[in-house]
Amino acid sequence: MGRSGPVIAIDGPSGAGKSTLANALAIRLGVEALDTGAMYRAVAWAALDRGIDPHDAEAVAALARSVNIGIDDALQVDGREVTDAIRSGEVDSVVSVVAANPAVREEMVRRQREWLSVRGAGVIEGRDIANVVAPDADLKVYLTASSTVRADRRASQLGMPGDTALVEEQMSLRDRVDSTRAVSPLAPPGATAPGAIVIDSTGKGPDEVVEEVLAWL
Ligand code: DC
Repeated sequence: MGRSGPVIAIDGPSGAGKSTLANALAIRLGVEALDTGAMYRAVAWAALDRGIDPHDAEAVAALARSVNIGIDDALQVDGREVTDAIRSGEVDSVVSVVAANPAVREEMVRRQREWLSVRGAGVIEGRDIANVVAPDADLKVYLTASSTVRADRRASQLGMPGDTALVEEQMSLRDRVDSTRAVSPLAPPGATAPGAIVIDSTGKGPDEVVEEVLAWL
């Protein structure tokens, strides 16, 4: 299907500000935003909920293929609202393993491409968007920030603003798994997709980053 508007791919590590940027761009451009990390989190949450071992690759793959993930407005798993539940520390600690499962990735990428093809436009954010999900995006952004700033943001999101050091440690472990896995690892900023613009959001407000990206479009 042809384009109905721009396709924007946003990649980068946790806490870089991808979701904030994606949502703001979507509003400005009159398109929808897709948080692909939330999809991997939904599979991880469903595995924990059903007592499936996140390391059991076959069982998690079967779950990924069968689970119904509602991605409009509130996030739903098989009809249950899990918007907050997928951001828990428990999900944080197993989601990288789930996202490293090649069969899970294959299924999620298929659903993400379908989302895009139905709409013909949109802002998609994750780790493999520019390289795998939407390599023909009109604009590819690699968003990053210093690890302290990223941990600060995530700690506030988790409601534990005093625990930045602990969050930073867990986050860097997750980023390491995401960057070193065999299938579609998160590339470092200097080796991201051809044509991608790299933006460091350290010390920048959300509006500043939005304007910077729109200037490239
Ligand atoms: O962006 P996030 O922290 O919500 O992502 C959750 C996990 O999913 C994280 O471990 C990275 C992984 N992920 C991925 O592998 N590919 C994507 N396109 C999006 C997220």
